[in-house]
Amino acid sequence: MNKYTPADKKTMYFIGVTTKKSSIMKVFPRWMDYFGIDAQIKGIDFIPHDEAEKYREAVSFIKHDPLSLGALVTTHKIDCYRACRDLFEGSGEYAQLLGEASSISKRGTELWAHAKDPITSGLALEAFMPNGYWTNTDANMLLLGAGGSSLALTLYLVNKAKHSDDVPKKIVVTNRSEGRLKEMQHIHSMLKLPFTIEYHHCPTPSDNDVLVNSLPEGSLVINATGLGKDGPGSPVTDAAIFPKNGYAWEFNYRGELVFMDQARAQQKARNLTIEDGWVYFIHGWTRVIAEVFHIDIPTEGPEFDTISQIAKETR
Ligand SMILES: NC(=O)c1ccc[n+]([C@@H]2O[C@H](COP(=O)([O-])OP(=O)(O)OC[C@H]3O[C@@H](n4cnc5c(N)ncnc54)[C@H](OP(=O)(O)O)[C@@H]3O)[C@@H](O)[C@H]2O)c1
Repeated sequence: MNKYTPADKKTMYFIGVTTKKSSIMKVFPRWMDYFGIDAQIKGIDFIPHDEAEKYREAVSFIKHDPLSLGALVTTHKIDCYRACRDLFEGSGEYAQLLGEASSISKRGTELWAHAKDPITSGLALEAFMPNGYWTNTDANMLLLGAGGSSLALTLYLVNKAKHSDDVPKKIVVTNRSEGRLKEMQHIHSMLKLPFTIEYHHCPTPSDNDVLVNSLPEGSLVINATGLGKDGPGSPVTDAAIFPKNGYAWEFNYRGELVFMDQARAQQKARNLTIEDGWVYFIHGWTRVIAEVFHIDIPTEGPEFDTISQIAKETR
């Protein structure tokens, strides 16, 4: 039985797990006012790795309902794309490479799938790293966690390197399970990488500490594990020593964010720059909204700052 009601005004969907809790529910209406679009957002909650039929039902509904214009997909990016592949008339290059879709939109009568993380994670990175930083230093990038967003960031750098040498010369990736490292390695093996990369199986936070402690000065340590939001704790222990003059980036902006507290405890002594996932969140949503409503939304400059400010006011 179809539980979806045809939209009576332009509607974008958020396909996630606990969508009502997300800041976007408050931010979206304010952004729509700003863009002058009369549209609403509706959450669709599935449990992680839900039945394929449920994903198909939701995506088929969006495909055939005229005022349902598209969706942003979080946790179910891979499962949903896999279950609904034949429903899409077109898929972007990254969606095909990664086998996932975080953006569902319409182009005329066609339904399109895109993977936006390789773009949005890069925009978020560039927002706080100084221009030319990687060209001018031998700092490394340490990615704690080899999941989807970590892989996406490496793909952003692969693409950036086609027109710039401002990418890390060395990346170190760790993961709790070996499988994710192998998946990442498999995708990397199909590409020409502009950096050297080491993959480390690190089942415990103490294993991650060893790699944090051995980073050269100025390196960037990223918590891409979800620990501190999706799960308790942090991927490193309190004994980890962040690199002098380095950077610490937590991919999330809500939750306990223990990793950020650990970095803050050393901020003065190690002269650290610390960043959370708020700007990543803004880019993540605005890139999909631009696709769904076919509007131009800048990725920097005064208009982007206004869009960010509107979102901040709802925090
Ligand atoms: N701010 C934003 O807008 C934004 C955007 C994208 C992502 N994020 C956040 O970033 C986090 C990661 O996202 P994702 O899509 O990449 O998730 P994901 O695919 O679930 O990846 C997380 C990875 O971290 C690994 N991990 C967990 N604990 C670890 C530890 N102690 N040491 C090393 N690796 C560990 C997991 O390994 P196993 O294989 O062992 O589970 C998994 O491979 C999520 O919390 C997400 O919400 C935020």
